[in-house]
Amino acid sequence: MPVYCITGTNRGLGLEFVRQLAQSPDNTIVAATRSLSSDLGDLHAVASPSTHILECDTSSVASIHAFVKEVRRTLGYQGKIDFLLNSAGVNLASSQSSLSLGPDDLQQNMAVNVIGPAKTVELLLDAALLAPDIRILNMTSGLGSLQLSSGMRPRKCAPYSISKAALNMLTVHQSEDLRPHLPGSVVICMDPGWVKTRLGGEGAVLEASQSIGDMLAVLHGLKTEDTGALYHHTGEKIPW
Ligand SMILES: NC(=O)c1ccc[n+]([C@@H]2O[C@H](COP(=O)([O-])OP(=O)(O)OC[C@H]3O[C@@H](n4cnc5c(N)ncnc54)[C@H](OP(=O)(O)O)[C@@H]3O)[C@@H](O)[C@H]2O)c1
Repeated sequence: MPVYCITGTNRGLGLEFVRQLAQSPDNTIVAATRSLSSDLGDLHAVASPSTHILECDTSSVASIHAFVKEVRRTLGYQGKIDFLLNSAGVNLASSQSSLSLGPDDLQQNMAVNVIGPAKTVELLLDAALLAPDIRILNMTSGLGSLQLSSGMRPRKCAPYSISKAALNMLTVHQSEDLRPHLPGSVVICMDPGWVKTRLGGEGAVLEASQSIGDMLAVLHGLKTEDTGALYHHTGEKIPW
């Protein structure tokens, strides 16, 4: 019974992860959502009997602490997570450029997109909730690639882009730092493509079902030597 833990599951790509994974009764799913008080109708509609919906606001370290305790209670004394999918993310103040950055906007993008995945991994590790061969996917963006961004016209979403570049670097650090604790661990970041979700916005080209189907295929094929890499959802490695 593999255990999947996914953040940001009430809509968008996180919801689609749950929908596809819930089709197998073998999968235990910890579906994290920013607030249990928000409308979770879509999530309840796709959840399986072995889907556990828990609250985790990834912009709040206190919320992540409380979430980790709930995960332990849910999975029991010896339970471990086999796949951690850090999907929660925001693209705030998308009209700002590098010449008009709002410090608070940049900090809020960093809080959700970088500090959230960092503390989620750290606190789950501290609670011995990560399997020795854990697979961790940090959901990045093509806008986080320095090389791809440098040729992009028009330039856009500077605060988001900067936060995703930082998430990429976090991934490199996590992949090295986890190995002494979890020898078979693999940490990667993946660009889901331009997907039709609220964040994807107008002009998005890819159905969420296609993007998530592709990403799960990549995730399930990962080998220990693949740690620390940046992937496109198609499985192609893309430049940093
Ligand atoms: N869609 C694309 O084209 C695209 C492209 C590249 C990368 N990505 C990345 O893919 C990931 C998922 O994006 P999406 O397209 O699914 O976006 P989305 O439809 O806007 O959904 C974002 C999800 O993140 C959650 N979230 C936001 N802030 C949170 C917080 N503080 N704590 C917990 N959850 C929080 C949202 O929950 P609430 O509803 O409660 O706010 C929602 O479930 C993001 O990391 C994004 O950067 C998406």
